[in-house]
Amino acid sequence: MLFTKFFAQIIFITAILFNITNGVDPNYILSLVNQERQKNRLSNLTLDSRLTRAAQLHTDYMASIKNLTHDDRSGSLEDRIRAQGYNWSAVAENIAKGQVNETAAIKTWMNSSQHRQNILSPKYKHLGVGYSNNGNYWTQDFGTPA
Ligand SMILES: *[C@@H]1O[C@H](CO)[C@@H](O)[C@H](O)[C@H]1NC(C)=O
Ligand SMILES: *[C@@H]1O[C@H](CO)[C@@H](O)[C@H](O)[C@H]1NC(C)=O
Ligand SMILES: *[C@@H]1O[C@H](CO)[C@@H](O)[C@H](O)[C@H]1NC(C)=O
Ligand SMILES: *[C@@H]1O[C@H](CO)[C@@H](O)[C@H](O)[C@H]1NC(C)=O
Ligand SMILES: *[C@@H]1O[C@H](CO)[C@@H](O)[C@H](O)[C@H]1NC(C)=O
Repeated sequence: MLFTKFFAQIIFITAILFNITNGVDPNYILSLVNQERQKNRLSNLTLDSRLTRAAQLHTDYMASIKNLTHDDRSGSLEDRIRAQGYNWSAVAENIAKGQVNETAAIKTWMNSSQHRQNILSPKYKHLGVGYSNNGNYWTQDFGTPA
């Protein structure tokens, strides 16, 4: 019992330290995004915990209905981001399903002009990342504060 609790706490603390969402590291996705931005001479994005919360909630929603959608029972993208305390002047969302790892997800998005445009837009400053291993659902939320 004691050991189980001890190890559960270590895993929990490690997950917080490394910002791990369901086994996917948002910092790794951020670095893949920033590598693409650097190739295009754009400034790096930084992770924002409010956008990551919105992205994770939306990812869990998509996994629960087993479908890709930008509509959520808690509202539009714009509403969902605001609900996390992020007053935005620009927002966008990329979603994907079935990619087995971070590089595969980024590859899919970079291969689709609209998703690529979000990754390579000078409009955005922040990134949030969501992932569910229940069906491999992925979300990226991009934002710039008001
Ligand atoms: C931008 O991100 C890339 C990829 O993570 C990194 O190699 C680079 O050092 C970053 N640049 C700055 C100015 O932080
Ligand atoms: C998934 O979403 C699409 C587009 O909204 C819809 O046409 C389709 O019926 C949905 N599939 C399921 C299984 O709900
Ligand atoms: C967001 O904007 C609303 C209305 O303009 C304001 O009441 C609220 O304090 C702002 N929240 C943040 C986190 O800036
Ligand atoms: C990611 O998944 C692809 C298959 O879609 C595979 O080819 C690649 O080796 C994987 N990359 C890593 C880092 O695991
Ligand atoms: C990239 O897009 C092309 C054309 O839409 C498609 O044939 C190819 O399978 C895509 N590759 C990936 C990795 O998504």
